[in-house]
Amino acid sequence: MAKEIWQPGNMLYPIPAVMVSCQREGEKPNIITVAWAGNVCSSPAMLSISVRKSRYSYDIIKETGEFVVNLTNSELVRATDWCGVRSGRDHDKFKEMNLTPQKSQKISAPGIAESPVNIECRVKEILELGTHDMFVAEVVCVTADDRYMDENGRFDLSKADPIAYSHGEYYSLGKKLGKFGYSVAKKPQKSKKRTPKAVKDRRHDTTNDKAQ
Ligand SMILES: Cc1cc2nc3c(=O)[nH]c(=O)nc-3n(C[C@H](O)[C@H](O)[C@H](O)COP(=O)(O)O)c2cc1C
Repeated sequence: MAKEIWQPGNMLYPIPAVMVSCQREGEKPNIITVAWAGNVCSSPAMLSISVRKSRYSYDIIKETGEFVVNLTNSELVRATDWCGVRSGRDHDKFKEMNLTPQKSQKISAPGIAESPVNIECRVKEILELGTHDMFVAEVVCVTADDRYMDENGRFDLSKADPIAYSHGEYYSLGKKLGKFGYSVAKKPQKSKKRTPKAVKDRRHDTTNDKAQ
């Protein structure tokens, strides 16, 4: 086996491509597609997005200190791409992509109603890294489409057909290969009967993020 040696570059793929919505008071809402995004802290829940200063959305997010990360799926893949190649300077992206602004719970910027998960964020820090500035933000509320709850009342994102982005291309997910910790599990889990309260608590426990 031989390995090629490459120059440093962004090779961390696949990653999500998300639609980030933002709005200045009194102006139309906007959407920017972002692939440089990720979870950065479990408690408090935090994520980051990295945005070039030249983007129309950059100043909006900087001035308002707010944005919504909207997860994308196969139904939204065209809108995801389009919002990433057209600027809000010249277009009303919600209108032109037939997307519906959804009132957020905790912030003024709207989410995208058609997205399966809307993550409302407040900016905590801006790091100037180079081409991109990283907005490190706290998650202040999450709304999830109840069409994707399973029979146990648990959110099942795979039902929404989420997409991943890899080397300039969009993919849907492949087959499930295992679950967190399965490699060390002693025996298959027996299905436990859960009380209504337990079901409610699990709705919010979809990421195993205590392990991260
Ligand atoms: C798949 C994809 C991923 C992108 N990721 C980023 C990103 O992480 N950061 C960024 O600044 N621009 C990214 N872009 C480019 C912006 O989405 C694009 O420049 C967009 O037109 C900016 O919109 P705005 O001018 O309305 O803010 C991406 C575009 C695509 C298609």
